[in-house]
Amino acid sequence: RNSPRIFSGIQPTGIIHLGNYLGAISQWKKRQDENENVILEIADLHSITLPQNPETLRQSILQMLATLLACGISPEKVLLFQQSMVSTHAELSWILGCVCTMPRLAHLPTFKEKSASLKDVPLGLYIYPILQAADILSYKATHVPVGEDQSQHIQLTQELAKMFNKRYGYCFPIPHAIVTDNVYARLKSLRDPAKKMSKSDPDPKSRISLLDKPEEVIIKIKKAVTDFTSEISYDPEHRPGVSNLLSIHSFMSSKSIDVICKEVQGLNTVSYKKLLADVIVAHLQPIQKEYYAFLSDEEYLHNILKHGAEEALAISTKTLDEVKEKLGL
Ligand code: ADP
Ligand code: NA
Repeated sequence: RNSPRIFSGIQPTGIIHLGNYLGAISQWKKRQDENENVILEIADLHSITLPQNPETLRQSILQMLATLLACGISPEKVLLFQQSMVSTHAELSWILGCVCTMPRLAHLPTFKEKSASLKDVPLGLYIYPILQAADILSYKATHVPVGEDQSQHIQLTQELAKMFNKRYGYCFPIPHAIVTDNVYARLKSLRDPAKKMSKSDPDPKSRISLLDKPEEVIIKIKKAVTDFTSEISYDPEHRPGVSNLLSIHSFMSSKSIDVICKEVQGLNTVSYKKLLADVIVAHLQPIQKEYYAFLSDEEYLHNILKHGAEEALAISTKTLDEVKEKLGL
């Protein structure tokens, strides 16, 4: 009963990069493999806060599902579902919106950042942290793995849960953020190791995508910005470029950075990059094979989404019923 419930979500935004794979998916898989109670949402309602092409979105949802499966997320062990198929989230978000104030949302840095460049700001962009709170609270989640930029949203979720509990009687456990993508655990851009590896970076050479072909991996690693010292050493502060390559290497090989540094002693950056590219290609190839196999079986994918939605709806409806009862609805 008191075991942790872990909730996390990922927007269906096409193909992920190694940063997302390390910072998000591999962390979920680790918890799944440790038999933790993991709930994973493909957050399609969040992705429409900005306009999407419907056909692309439909495809992106299946691609994200195939990606998760190819990376080893198992629908047998994890509650995996598509957000818009579970209508209770939107309903709970309305109720939480009635507990939240407007200034509380206006001060969130993600909103300020995302709305700054827009002439007309959609209401959805403004209120999506409430939907995020509803996602989490629908499952009475206790732990939420997030990137650093999302920790303020978890704080809002905590406040809404506390306010609701105080006003209407205890209903929600207070969820804790687990910050997985902090400055230290973060993969950096291959073009500028002062920045993080990100899909919003306009230069595709700044990141390795999960579906990059071997020749793309080789060229991107070859061109990765390092420094004028040719030996391989780990020093994120003074040598961020080569240290980032070692972080990628450690992740792809499951070896510690110390062990890798000993193994590659004597190599210069050029030959080290060749070795690293081979390690990445060897890691990605089986994942890519699985990805394309899953993606070609739409019936199987839709089946997973159907079963996931049923299970998610059963849990979240129980919560929503309890909430409505307390409100007098
Ligand atoms: P992006 O910056 O590519 O748009 P998001 O901000 O959408 O990525 O993050 C999606 C998930 O991937 C989050 O859990 C985040 O913590 C993780 N993540 C994103 N970039 C990195 C990175 N460079 N290193 C580690 N984890 C990352
Ligand atoms: Na981002």
